[in-house]
Amino acid sequence: MPTTTGMKGGGYYDANSKEQRSALETFLPWLETAIAELPSPAAFQESWNVLDIGSSEGGNAIYAMNRLITALRRHSDLPVWVLFDDLPTNDFNQMFLNLFPQGGSAFSAPDIFSAAIGGSAFGRLVPPRSLHLATTFNAIGFFETRPVARLPHFILAMQPNPHAPREGVAVTESELKPFQDQAHQDLCHFYAARAEELVSGGKLLVQVFGRNESWSTGYGICDVLSDALLDFVEAEMLPRSFYEAFVFPAYYRSVEELIAPLQEGTELAAAFRVEKAEVREVPVPFNDALEQSGDQSAWAHSYTSFLRAFTEPVLQAALPVDLPQENTIKKIYQRVERLLEDHPERYEFHFISIAALLTRV
Ligand SMILES: C[S@@+](CC[C@H](N)C(=O)[O-])C[C@H]1O[C@@H](n2cnc3c(N)ncnc32)[C@H](O)[C@@H]1O
Repeated sequence: MPTTTGMKGGGYYDANSKEQRSALETFLPWLETAIAELPSPAAFQESWNVLDIGSSEGGNAIYAMNRLITALRRHSDLPVWVLFDDLPTNDFNQMFLNLFPQGGSAFSAPDIFSAAIGGSAFGRLVPPRSLHLATTFNAIGFFETRPVARLPHFILAMQPNPHAPREGVAVTESELKPFQDQAHQDLCHFYAARAEELVSGGKLLVQVFGRNESWSTGYGICDVLSDALLDFVEAEMLPRSFYEAFVFPAYYRSVEELIAPLQEGTELAAAFRVEKAEVREVPVPFNDALEQSGDQSAWAHSYTSFLRAFTEPVLQAALPVDLPQENTIKKIYQRVERLLEDHPERYEFHFISIAALLTRV
């Protein structure tokens, strides 16, 4: 069963994803530096081939690719193929508009050729041994397929935030296990596909939302969404069976989980050298804006828009069709915004970004 994890389209994701940019930006210098160390192009090589995976509408992805192309151009004048992948349900129209703003190219350097690919990160996207660089940002935390395991007392596969307890909200270790196993299998599929696609010496930068020993990026965002849904259940605007069946299809990994498939003495371990692997807490633009302005309702609004950009399509697809009220989805996010405004300390948000830089052996 495929996931339905497309972002909210029509430019909405691009307008509400400064936080994701902050999370990827902190690790871009790893790859910029690694590009400078790439071997000179082989005699028969006609282009550098670069693939970004899970690019959404492209705002952040094109920004990242522009930075990498600048680094590549310092290294060689060869033309560049820059490829952007996402699920077939993605808003590719918006991506193409972003690739050609006002009819011109989004890339400042000459001889840059772009194309988009519809396909899953967890399968093969390009021919074997055809890529020199691959990146993925804030994407591979989404499950390859919609989980079939259930979590009747929470909406995300993690231990609920101890700082935002609510009666009845709980997850047991045995409930978590199938999700942890699924997330591990997904990563094995992701690395196996990239191992086939990258040339020897090719680089792979993997970054995604995650967790450290004390905090998860899922805290705050999933607490407020869960509270809003439970408030609707208690007000009989949503059936309890909906809450019990709903699981947001993402997994927030530790950096150890991110590189676990490469450290097990398997074929994958032989395919990649792990150059770097790290977890960092990154600046969150809507928190910084609150610190400067003290404007709590602006904070609640930006926080809600950020959350809405990556949760609304999933929630919309999961909602029952025969609800007693109209515009349920809009009302849920209104409730989210109100909760944030009234209880900012309960829904504190920290972005824990995890990443690894790998070289194809
Ligand atoms: C949060 S957005 C990240 C967009 C961009 N990379 C960024 O950092 O701002 C996650 C993207 O991953 C995509 N995605 C989720 N599952 C995917 C899969 N199996 N294959 C490819 N893309 C996927 C979603 O459709 C979405 O566009």
